[in-house]
Amino acid sequence: MFHLGWFVGSGFSVQSWNDTWSGVGRKEWMKADLYIDMARSLERAGFDYMMFEDGLLVPDTYQGSMEHYLGKAMETPRNDPTALIGILGRETKHIGLIPTMSTSFYPPFMAARMIATLDHLCDGRAGANLVTSSNHGAAMNFGLDQHYEHDLRYDMAGEWIELVSQLLASWEPDAVVFDDEKGVFADYRKVHQIHFEGKYYKSRGPLNTPPGPQGKPVICQAGGSGAGRKFAAANADTIVCVPLGLEAMKDYRDDISRQMVEAGRDPKDCKVMYLVNPVVADTERAAREIYDARRAARQSDDFLHQAFATMSYFSGIDFSQFDPDEPMPDLTGKVNGHQSSMARYAKDGEGKTLRELALGQDVVESIELVGTPEQVAEKMGEAMEYVGGDGFLLANSIDRRSVATIADGLVPALRRRGLVRSEYEFEHFKDNLLAF
Ligand SMILES: Cc1cc2nc3c(=O)[nH]c(=O)nc-3n(C[C@H](O)[C@H](O)[C@H](O)COP(=O)(O)O)c2cc1C
Repeated sequence: MFHLGWFVGSGFSVQSWNDTWSGVGRKEWMKADLYIDMARSLERAGFDYMMFEDGLLVPDTYQGSMEHYLGKAMETPRNDPTALIGILGRETKHIGLIPTMSTSFYPPFMAARMIATLDHLCDGRAGANLVTSSNHGAAMNFGLDQHYEHDLRYDMAGEWIELVSQLLASWEPDAVVFDDEKGVFADYRKVHQIHFEGKYYKSRGPLNTPPGPQGKPVICQAGGSGAGRKFAAANADTIVCVPLGLEAMKDYRDDISRQMVEAGRDPKDCKVMYLVNPVVADTERAAREIYDARRAARQSDDFLHQAFATMSYFSGIDFSQFDPDEPMPDLTGKVNGHQSSMARYAKDGEGKTLRELALGQDVVESIELVGTPEQVAEKMGEAMEYVGGDGFLLANSIDRRSVATIADGLVPALRRRGLVRSEYEFEHFKDNLLAF
């Protein structure tokens, strides 16, 4: 069996507002209703988790302007996903819920408190996707003139999670005694100041929130660079990644397993999930038509701007300064944003012009999955068997119809093959995630 997660890739934001199947998207984009329906559907399908992307800025990297980002609702706006998780926890019973949090800008004490609070509200089903925030604009929103350098951010993140973990452990599990006779709520001898003093952070503690049912909620991580993987191997319960093709997927899992052993961990304790966008329909031909139409719709000047805007956002480098009909310039050592994405662009771009590279960026996924539910289910099973991976992170566009094709079309086919769970075994998210 393997695991399933869904990556809400544009965060708590505008999902769909001007497409055929957008429904009331323009009226409800800032509300919880779509996500409640979605979470219930995915829970019916036995998904391990929903993970919400997040960012802390209105970007202006491309052309030095906010035009393309605001005009197309790209990487912005973003409502705070932690607030949404609280609501989703109430409306569901089994699915894990992961908001993104920035280790660079969320003060550790506030983060530990939020994580513990969410875990209480979700009855032990909260997680946190830890990112270091790659974009310079986010740093400026928090008062920095210059963002922290890439590897320094991961160094800080390592200390950040150590402090957060200590704060979450600052109450012993049986500190709340509810002693009716003595009229004592909590035993003060079981709640500890931590006096943490690191290179970047300092905190006395204890946390003023008792830990939630999971103690330390599920930690998710996505950094693909050397520093990112090291951080993930040391700390993550689940890693989300986009290595391209079966060999790269296998290498990624093998590398994480090796680094986990080096960090003193059992590789089984972290689930590596690969990003995919399955296109399923009644017939293979219909699925292929949907796939081709999606690709054709994106071969336009408008989409070229969007692709360059995304590449600029990820890298922190304004791609409008380059000639689109020339190859991608060598940007080695110049990127303070996503190093792994830039490495992917460089590899993808070999022998191509920038225009060709950008127009090929319509869907980034580990393997292509197009066909009937049975065909796609079979391919997913074969891929996991070959790779030795733990599951898939679906990143399909989000509207109610799209979610139904997966939850009520693809997943039953996966279940018929015994590839995914048919019910949740445990009460808490982490236990279900690590169950197989
Ligand atoms: C599936 C996936 C989800 C991600 N979600 C976020 C996110 O919500 N917010 C964010 O700032 N970065 C996000 N990232 C970016 C990563 O945190 C990281 O910055 C990026 O993968 C580059 O990492 P690297 O610099 O270690 O190569 C995501 C990456 C992937 C692959």
